[in-house]
Amino acid sequence: MGAMTDTASAPRRLLVLNGPNLNLLGTREPAIYGTATLDDVEALCRDRAAVHGVDVDFLQSNHEGVLIDAIHAARGTAAGIVINPGAFTHTSIAIADAIAGVEVPTVEVHISNVHAREAFRHHSYISPVAAAVIIGAGINGYGYAIDQLATRG
Ligand code: DQA
Repeated sequence: MGAMTDTASAPRRLLVLNGPNLNLLGTREPAIYGTATLDDVEALCRDRAAVHGVDVDFLQSNHEGVLIDAIHAARGTAAGIVINPGAFTHTSIAIADAIAGVEVPTVEVHISNVHAREAFRHHSYISPVAAAVIIGAGINGYGYAIDQLATRG
């Protein structure tokens, strides 16, 4: 369990955050994002976390400030954050600052391979403050992110 068991008081929860439009997963541009829904993503995350003996707080918001508040609340309460910031990836210095500020290890996930898409999706404000980045693995990427947070040294 690595970092999650460093101290007796270490939180055994992970926060999984999804940004704008990810509530539409399953019906939104399925050729790009697939047909799995956000509920499917949540179930995948809970199953994967259970393998590691950790709980998951799962949140989706279309609002930047709600995501930032959730990141702030993760300090001291979550062992790690998995975030798919959606389009905020490419625009939000504020979300990057929040991740840097709370010092909770964070894995950035993108369902699609953003590097095979429009040029404006090639830059991420989040990647420089992320512990790891998983791109283009479909919704499996959320599971890989949880594996990474649960087993990192
Ligand atoms: C996304 C990629 C972003 O460019 C896009 O704005 C999204 C989803 C992905 O998961 O592939 O909303 O983060």
